[in-house]
Amino acid sequence: MRGTIRAISALLLLGQVGLCWGYSWNQDMVDQPSAKPQKFPAPPEPGSVPIVGGETMPAPATDDGMREAKEAAAAVPNPIPATAESLARGAYLYEMNCLVCHGKQGQGDGPVGLKFVTKSPQDLHEDYIQDQADGQLFFTLTRGRKLMPFYRDALRVEERWDVIDYLRHEFGKK
Ligand code: HEC
Repeated sequence: MRGTIRAISALLLLGQVGLCWGYSWNQDMVDQPSAKPQKFPAPPEPGSVPIVGGETMPAPATDDGMREAKEAAAAVPNPIPATAESLARGAYLYEMNCLVCHGKQGQGDGPVGLKFVTKSPQDLHEDYIQDQADGQLFFTLTRGRKLMPFYRDALRVEERWDVIDYLRHEFGKK
């Protein structure tokens, strides 16, 4: 009996030894290629810095610049027709991204919107919004507006247009 236990222990011990040295994935973090101080960093992989497909909306640094750029954006046409598919995508994206502030009915009374003190999220039915061109709304979604966050990182270009189609359909003048 003792002999058997010893044999099993020896086997287990050998297994451990095998685990420690035998397998290729057993590597300390220190044993890896790394850029040492003062060494030139590795060049980026081709394509890792995008140089095409960038945002076409200007990014002015001043309030006046923003106002002018938003005016100019009125000329940008909406390339996505308000089909049932676009409206369905827009509804989904609105719920995910905008409802929290602007509310389900677009009245600016979402759970986070109600906490705004200095300026509430706009009621999306207002003439101020519905009289703007699609391109101007697109500008707001791309660049944000004071307390309103921008959505150029969260929504792809086509998705922003889908949200605008939904905005018009749901909260616009019928
Ligand atoms: C964190 C809260 C918040 C979220 C989320 C948010 N908004 Fe807003 N939104 C605001 C606030 C606040 C304003 C008023 C900004 C101002 O005028 O200072 C505003 C204003 C606007 C305006 C009017 C801008 C103008 O002055 O022309 C539009 C259009 C709009 N939001 C659409 C949207 C859409 C569409 C989404 C979702 C993609 C969204 N918002 C998400 C807070 C939010």
